[in-house]
Amino acid sequence: MHTIVELDVNGDRQEVGVPSHYTLLEALRYGLGLTGSKQGCDKGDCGACTVLRDGEAVLACILPVHEAIGHEITTVEGLADGPDPHPLQDAFDLTGGAQCGFCTPGILCSAYGLLSVNPDPTRTEIAEALSGNLCRCTGYTKIFEAVEVAAEAVRSGRRPEEVMEERRGAPDRAAPG
Ligand code: FES
Ligand code: FES
Repeated sequence: MHTIVELDVNGDRQEVGVPSHYTLLEALRYGLGLTGSKQGCDKGDCGACTVLRDGEAVLACILPVHEAIGHEITTVEGLADGPDPHPLQDAFDLTGGAQCGFCTPGILCSAYGLLSVNPDPTRTEIAEALSGNLCRCTGYTKIFEAVEVAAEAVRSGRRPEEVMEERRGAPDRAAPG
């Protein structure tokens, strides 16, 4: 039996009919058609389903949909500002930090949640914030760099491209002449 629930997702209040056992992830994907959040392990282990609840990263696959009611939910589809990608999205593109479509949405949401509360994270803090987002296909170096670039871009009001250029130029400027 379905019940109608109201969810605040990416700035819009929407009604969705869901079975009472549905998780937030199922409501997002199968009720609202927001398929950016991925159903990976579906048991809280991989982070592919990570979304933001009131700005805090949560695992949507283990969150009963009723625990999302009355909270502001942000999915990867809601990170961009209209047609403009969020600096994190640009930075992941520029650094090569973007991985596959399963892990990247969750990584972006976890990183967004981190920068919301800590605009100048250390690499250790970034690693801790992303520790629940698993990808066994690559190292995390470029992912961490992407978060650093985005953080610096947001703090300084510059574009991620400019931050990248400065970072890449820094060793040359520091090199002995
Ligand atoms: S799908 Fe939610 S943690 Fe893996
Ligand atoms: S799980 Fe996405 S690239 Fe490894």
